[in-house]
Amino acid sequence: MKDVHVGVIGLGNVGSGTLAILAANADQIALKLGFRLHVAAVCSRSINTKPIPGIPDGALRTHDWREVVAHPQVDIVVELVGGTTVAAEIIAGAIANGKSIVTANKELMALQGAEIWDRAIRANINLAMEASVAGGIPIHAVLREGISGDRIVALAGILNGTSNYILTEMERRGESFDKVLAEAQSLGYAEADPSADVDGYDARSKLALLSALAFGERITPSDIFVEGIRRITAQDFDYAHQLGHTIRLVCSARQTERGLILSVRPALIPQSTILAGVKGAYNAVWVKGQFGADTFYYGRGAGPNPTGVAVVSDLMRVAREIRGGSPDRVSPFAHERLGEYQPVSITLQYRPYYLRFRVDDRPGIIAELAGILASKQIGLEAVLQLPCDTKHDLPFVITVEPTSELAIREAVEKMSRLSFLKEPPLALPMEPPL
Ligand SMILES: NC(=O)c1ccc[n+]([C@@H]2O[C@H](COP(=O)([O-])OP(=O)(O)OC[C@H]3O[C@@H](n4cnc5c(N)ncnc54)[C@H](OP(=O)(O)O)[C@@H]3O)[C@@H](O)[C@H]2O)c1
Repeated sequence: MKDVHVGVIGLGNVGSGTLAILAANADQIALKLGFRLHVAAVCSRSINTKPIPGIPDGALRTHDWREVVAHPQVDIVVELVGGTTVAAEIIAGAIANGKSIVTANKELMALQGAEIWDRAIRANINLAMEASVAGGIPIHAVLREGISGDRIVALAGILNGTSNYILTEMERRGESFDKVLAEAQSLGYAEADPSADVDGYDARSKLALLSALAFGERITPSDIFVEGIRRITAQDFDYAHQLGHTIRLVCSARQTERGLILSVRPALIPQSTILAGVKGAYNAVWVKGQFGADTFYYGRGAGPNPTGVAVVSDLMRVAREIRGGSPDRVSPFAHERLGEYQPVSITLQYRPYYLRFRVDDRPGIIAELAGILASKQIGLEAVLQLPCDTKHDLPFVITVEPTSELAIREAVEKMSRLSFLKEPPLALPMEPPL
């Protein structure tokens, strides 16, 4: 059978991992496919100054991506540039030239995936995006094929490795957020501008994409409630442990009677649950189906090799579809058939909550806080206070019975005005066992 030719645009972390795997595994890939995958062209801005191993002799090397998408030999364009501007142009260029596409771009696919997929189908080309969510975990294949016969009712995941690394290091060593973040930056685990990771935006794109595939609804990432991990302290882990819980940045999507509620936020989860065991830079996705019940997927969320495996596996699938002549040209974004997503406000969600206060201690504090909770019909569950050296910045925790997010927000708003508080209360939902 005729070989398939590939053009790789973007030779950073994922691009270099992809080239290395294609080179090291070339023979095995050929045996599995029955034909060879050839890299015919590669592109990055600094192609002439940065040494990149794995580029085969004879491949076109260029800093102009247009040369790759127009290359007559290239069957599949691999977009590994990232972002939503040049990447969108590359994908449009590939479609215009009748080339199939493999991308790792969660941001672009979360924003425009449905439209891009529709254009690809009309142009009779193939598209694959496994690497865009949870790097090394083949979760797209799971949702699109493995459990697509089920009706998904809930999904929860740890989808940002940097945040999970920071949280689990804070938990393990009792260090502050700032200290662990600085270490992660010096080790290259976190970006100089860590906002996309620690403020939850990267995870939000991934949740939007996974939810679109799982629930078949069109989801706008900015409709998803997002809260980052900057306010979590080592003491929060001590309190969470006292309650039999830990803290993770949880991406959650749940079907309710009113519709789908989506959120990315730090939450207490029971230590006994499988998600609580996800540590360091690992990712995990738990999915609950109406018929098949629970399934769980775990693996490396990022990195040149795990993500490179996802890209190479996508290349093999698309190449097989091209050569097999039975392309898989049905969009996994099924919203046109299943309906549009109506954002359901997180304020309607009911949960028990963990409220952590830092106070300048004086008599009557608990009574004042309890009074505000009572005024919002919120039932107090427990008060916890671990030993502390100072009375002037004293942390303690109140847990409350299940209540609406709206009631908790109103209570926190009212409490924030109390003069003895050193900062507004931190309110974290306590998620049910998965
Ligand atoms: N890193 C991960 O582990 C991971 C995991 C899952 C998904 N992803 C996704 O994979 C994609 C790539 O991520 P990455 O971490 O590999 O990024 P990266 O290390 O920053 O690499 C980006 C590459 O794109 C090239 N590039 C940027 N603009 C270009 C342009 N206008 N023309 C040609 N080349 C251009 C850069 O060239 P120069 O270096 O020469 O500037 C670089 O080679 C992103 O969508 C990301 O979200 C990454």
